[in-house]
Order: sequence, then structure tokens, then C-alpha cells
Amino acid sequence: MSEKITVSVIKADIGSVAGHSTVPDEIKSLAEKKLSEAKEKGTIIDFRVFNAGDDLELVMTHRKGVDSEEIHGLAWEVFKACAERAKELKLYAAGQDLLKEAFSGNVRGLGPGVAEMEFTERPAEPIIVFMMDKTEPGAFNLPIFRMFADPFNTAGLVIDPSMHQGFRFEIWDIKEHKRVIMNSPEEMYDILALIGSKGRYVIKRVYPKEGGKLPADEPVAVISTEKLFEIAGEYVGKDDPVAIVRAQSGLPAVGEVLEAFAFPHLVSGWMRGSHNGPIMPVPFRYSKCTRFDGPPRVIAAGFQLCNGKLIGPVDMFDDPAFDYTRQKAMEICDYIRRHGPFEPHRLPHEEMEYTTLPKVLEKLETRFEKI
Ligand code: F6R
Ligand code: MG
Ligand code: MG
Repeated sequence: MSEKITVSVIKADIGSVAGHSTVPDEIKSLAEKKLSEAKEKGTIIDFRVFNAGDDLELVMTHRKGVDSEEIHGLAWEVFKACAERAKELKLYAAGQDLLKEAFSGNVRGLGPGVAEMEFTERPAEPIIVFMMDKTEPGAFNLPIFRMFADPFNTAGLVIDPSMHQGFRFEIWDIKEHKRVIMNSPEEMYDILALIGSKGRYVIKRVYPKEGGKLPADEPVAVISTEKLFEIAGEYVGKDDPVAIVRAQSGLPAVGEVLEAFAFPHLVSGWMRGSHNGPIMPVPFRYSKCTRFDGPPRVIAAGFQLCNGKLIGPVDMFDDPAFDYTRQKAMEICDYIRRHGPFEPHRLPHEEMEYTTLPKVLEKLETRFEKI
């Protein structure tokens, strides 16, 4: 067996053009330059830089494990340099996700989002990195469940002897800061009872079960769950999430992993982080949020790992096979947009990122009569 590799995806919104739509090439090139230097020094094995809408995404491979001070520190330095340039260019919301000035060992709790996992690289190791904009971590609940637990999505759960035993889900309660590990299919209905509340219970990791082809203590999927409002002590924005999913040979096939996005399910975020809308899978070139600052989108970068080197990316949603999903998403957009300021297009009051309600109520206080 080969050595353990860590894949880290660390992201932050450090400024965008025009408004919150996309990250300019100049900023991505600057991030690439900084990461090339780190690669030359041997800090990381390999890297790729993407943007998901207004978020700058660093995909890095290394041998330093998860929560490495060196790797998180590197990401922080890259974001800081990019935010500085963004400020010079007067990009929109320059530095928005760098909530604290000083780095203290780990980006967790600082503002950037993180998905990372350490595992033994298999003889052939396909991974897909999903990056979303204008939504929240719970947006991954439905597709991750479908990949690893729904036999109507993943044929292998039924017909592949190496997957038939199912998977284990690590679920976080992001309000109470606690987690639980649950088994599928045995506890499938209980899992759904939690993760259907996607603003509160989010899938953090998926593990194989004992006795399968893969080590049971090494994750096969991981999702970022940082919540910016808890970090700043007040609501400062939805945290556009990322996920890493391993595939094939005892795991869902790449096509089963992608199939989970063929249905443009409703997620919360979109305009002002305060609306429900469909998540639209798009090629990299369409990773910019336009209509009503959206709709929420997801890109997928496919790789093979080669001793930590990234072979790829392949732009997985750059395929007419997803045209129908995109068309459907736009029909849903048109339909739901016509609700304007009404729920369920607008989020329930407690979940909105922007609200005038307290002020309106204050103004009307003396005019309200008992009924
Ligand atoms: C949503 C998002 C945008 C902004 C909107 C208003 O996550 O980033 O939809 O909320 O463009 O932005 P401000 O308040 O900066 O004018
Ligand atoms: Mg932004
Ligand atoms: Mg964003």
C-alpha cells in the first residue's frame, strides 16, 4: 500500500467583479504564483486554483495531514495577498471572508471554508472536488446522501458486492456543535430525519464500513461546514461550501457521484443569502452568478491522484448530459422568482441574511391594536 496523501480544499471570498459575481483572472494568477512557490519549496505536492462564483478556491495536495498549521497558514497567506490586490483594484467586498487580522495556526474559525481528508492513495484514485456558490453547507446533504445511501441514485449499493454493506455518515449539529455517526442503510430513516433540516444538521464526512475494500477509518467524502455567522458572533453571510468525494472500486462510480446533481434541488442562499432557489451544475466557464445574483451553482473538478500529483482537472459538468438539468433549474428559477418577497422563495425570517423587519415592527409599535 502506498503512503497517505492529504487533499485540502480551502476557500474564501476575498473580493469579486462585478459585485459578487466572479473572481478576476488576475487574482487567480496571483494565487497560482504563490502556490507554485510553495510547491517548489516542497510544502505542497500539487495544487489547482478555481473560482466558484465570487469564491477563490485552493485545491492542494500534501503529506502534512488535516488541520496542518503549515498548509492552513499557506492558504491564509495566499488569501491575504489576493485580498490586498483586490483592495488595490477596488474589487467588490475585498477581503470579506478574512474576518480576523492575524492567523493563529488554523483557518477554522477565521472565515475561510475547509474540506480536507487524509487517506491511503489507492492504485487508481479518482476524486471529484465540488465547489458551490450562493448557498450553504446543507446544500450538500441531499446529493451526498443520494451518492452514498440512495439505491435509486447509486446502482452499486444494490448490485456491487463491495458496496452492498453501505456507508457511515458523520453528521454535525452546527448550532449545538456536536456530532453523531450513523449507519446506512440500517438507520436511513433516522439519518433523513436529521439531514432534512439542512440549515442545522449537515453531513460532514462519509466513511466506509469495516470489512470492505477501503480502510474504515479513512473518509471517502468530506464537506466544509464552517458557518460564518458563528465565527463573527453575528450573521455575516452564508458560507458557500465545498466537498471532496472519492469514487470507484468499492465507492460510488464517478457517474453515480455526478448523477446526484442531475436534479436541481432547492437550496437556500441566492440573492442576499435570503432566498431559496435551485442549484445549477455548470461548467467552469459559467461559474459566475448573474441572474438575481445566482442562481446558486456548483462546479465539479475531476482528478486522478498520482502519488499526490493532480492529474486533471476535468470539467465534469461541461457536458450536454446536464443541459436538461440546467434547463429545469431555469424553469424553477422563473417559477420561484415570481413569488418575489413571499416565502418560500424568500427564506423564513430567522434564516435571512438581510432583514428590515425589526425596524418595521418598531415603527409600527404604537399602531398595532389588540384583536
Ligand atoms: C449572496 C451575495 C449577494 C449579496 C448582494 C447584496 O451571498 O453575496 O447576493 O448579498 O449582492 O450585496 P451588498 O449588500 O454587498 O450590496
Ligand atoms: Mg462575495
Ligand atoms: Mg460566494
